[in-house]
Amino acid sequence: MPKVATIAIDGPVASGKTVVGRRVADALGFRFLDSGVMYRAVSLSALRNGVPIEDDALTTCASDSDLSLGDSPEGTRVLLDGEDITDRLRDPEVEGVVSRVAAMAGVRRVLVAKQQAVAADGPIVMVGRDIGTVVLADADVKAYLLASVEERAKRRHAERAGTDKETSLEAVEAALKDRDYIDSHRAASPLRPAEDAVVIDTDSLTIDQVVERVIELAAERSGNA
Ligand code: CDP
Repeated sequence: MPKVATIAIDGPVASGKTVVGRRVADALGFRFLDSGVMYRAVSLSALRNGVPIEDDALTTCASDSDLSLGDSPEGTRVLLDGEDITDRLRDPEVEGVVSRVAAMAGVRRVLVAKQQAVAADGPIVMVGRDIGTVVLADADVKAYLLASVEERAKRRHAERAGTDKETSLEAVEAALKDRDYIDSHRAASPLRPAEDAVVIDTDSLTIDQVVERVIELAAERSGNA
């Protein structure tokens, strides 16, 4: 009976990948990797070092950055050259450039190799944009989460309410559409469901229901359903 070891979850901005992925990983005793933090970390590094948004320079920046990821109950903690930068990764400056940084083929090559090296160490749930199509193209389970722009903007706005990253709902929605557009129109590994991904429309589902659905897919795949 095949045993599930790799679960890929992709989807657009604020589709619930991270919260769902983490909960699935906890339920199954798998490790969890949010690949988005790596693109955010390279973006922060580029901003801090005045690196132009251009493939060669950013690729060098990605390969020279000493990134290390650690799991904590609050989420993936990220160290850049030894400094914990987790709390900077959702700053508006980073959000403003991350999709352009992530569109660079060279940056993706460097980060995908790191993600695949992490996955080689054992069972994992990985979330992102190209996990089912590129990073773990032969993942045992592939889920692609969908939700309407309005629902996603509401979720992201609510997440940020009362924090120093709070902005208007309209601003959240505009930034989200902007990133989705760049992510799905880039030449290098554009955001799209893998052919064999199960698309889950989450608009009318609770987080618990989405988590259950992904766990069900894993059980079906292992022959335990
Ligand atoms: O959490 P949210 O959906 O806002 O974004 P994220 O998963 O942290 O990803 C931030 C950005 O990194 C995305 O908008 C993509 O441009 C890029 N990304 C990517 O290109 N490939 C991935 N596997 C993950 C993120």
